[in-house]
Amino acid sequence: MSDAVSTHTISGLESLDFGAGRIRVSDKQIINCFADLNQLVPFKYEWAWDKYLKACANHWMPNEINMSEDIALWKSANGLTPDEREIIERNLGFFVTADSLVANNLVLAVYRHITNPECRQYLLRQAFEEALHTHSYQHIVQSLGLNEAKIFNMYREVPAVSKKAAWALTYTQSLSDPTFQTGTPANDQRLLRDLIAFYVIFEGIFFYVGFTQILSMGRRHKMIGTAEQLQYILRDESMHLNFGIDVINQIKIENPHLWTAAFQTEAIEMIKTGVDLEYQYALDTMPRGILGLNSAMFKEYLQFIANRRLLQIGLPEQYRGITNPFPWMSEMMDLKKEKNFFETRVTEYQTGGTLSWDEEEEVDSANA
Ligand SMILES: [Fe+2]
Ligand SMILES: [Fe+2]
Repeated sequence: MSDAVSTHTISGLESLDFGAGRIRVSDKQIINCFADLNQLVPFKYEWAWDKYLKACANHWMPNEINMSEDIALWKSANGLTPDEREIIERNLGFFVTADSLVANNLVLAVYRHITNPECRQYLLRQAFEEALHTHSYQHIVQSLGLNEAKIFNMYREVPAVSKKAAWALTYTQSLSDPTFQTGTPANDQRLLRDLIAFYVIFEGIFFYVGFTQILSMGRRHKMIGTAEQLQYILRDESMHLNFGIDVINQIKIENPHLWTAAFQTEAIEMIKTGVDLEYQYALDTMPRGILGLNSAMFKEYLQFIANRRLLQIGLPEQYRGITNPFPWMSEMMDLKKEKNFFETRVTEYQTGGTLSWDEEEEVDSANA
């Protein structure tokens, strides 16, 4: 560790301190660190490196998924009901800008303040995956020949879409002042709030109505290319969520003074607000119910996953007597049936396989 005394958290772009000592694991901290951020090893957070390796092993490309059946179904007059078409357009309208918001939060707000190279390595991979997700949604919109301006501007035109994006933006804007620095309890809590807003709520709750609706269509052999795209995205998002939870919990371990009773109450309220916003979104996308889905099921599902998110960051469950109405979503996330990848795939990756939309045996809902 350098002997140079700094009053500011380092970024990794400091002038080289030639002759400074070598890095020790004990020098490393997840926030407010003063050890050189350009030296990846020795690792302190093996979980971050493991997730980076797993994410790379899950590599996929949106344009390698065959969209021809979706295009035919979309163009056929009676292939989909008006309600099904609305669900597809409304979800694309949310997702086409959602992953851009997540990526911008990562690279413009979060990355600078996570002062650990193995965590940053995962953040760089995650940022690329968010680009792939935006690419995937663009690829679906283009394949189906949808009105691009209408879909991409939906977060400024449709209230239920707009409210989720606007809610999350306030948390990243809190860090957007270029002079913002962590290092005080108040500012460290601002970072923690942003991590909870984006990882636990935006990626951990706000995606789940849309994922469930589209994946449910895929299970009924409708829009199977779109559903396959979303299944790969869901696998990535599941890891983003778990990484975010590990980061939040590591910050808590190293900075227990931040996790005050007042802050815990605030975090619980944020999650409950997230459930309410996502439930409004469910009502808006599906006023009548389709495909054996209805809004009451989504209310229970959102409360079920919110209980899990709360427990994962050490907070008490807020909803009693809740069971998972969509246990098949756990199977979608795990993607354990991988054998051979799509026939159109041009590159062999370490993992990958044909996705099956058959009704599978229900798996342990605790994995949802
Ligand atoms: Fe994403
Ligand atoms: Fe994500």
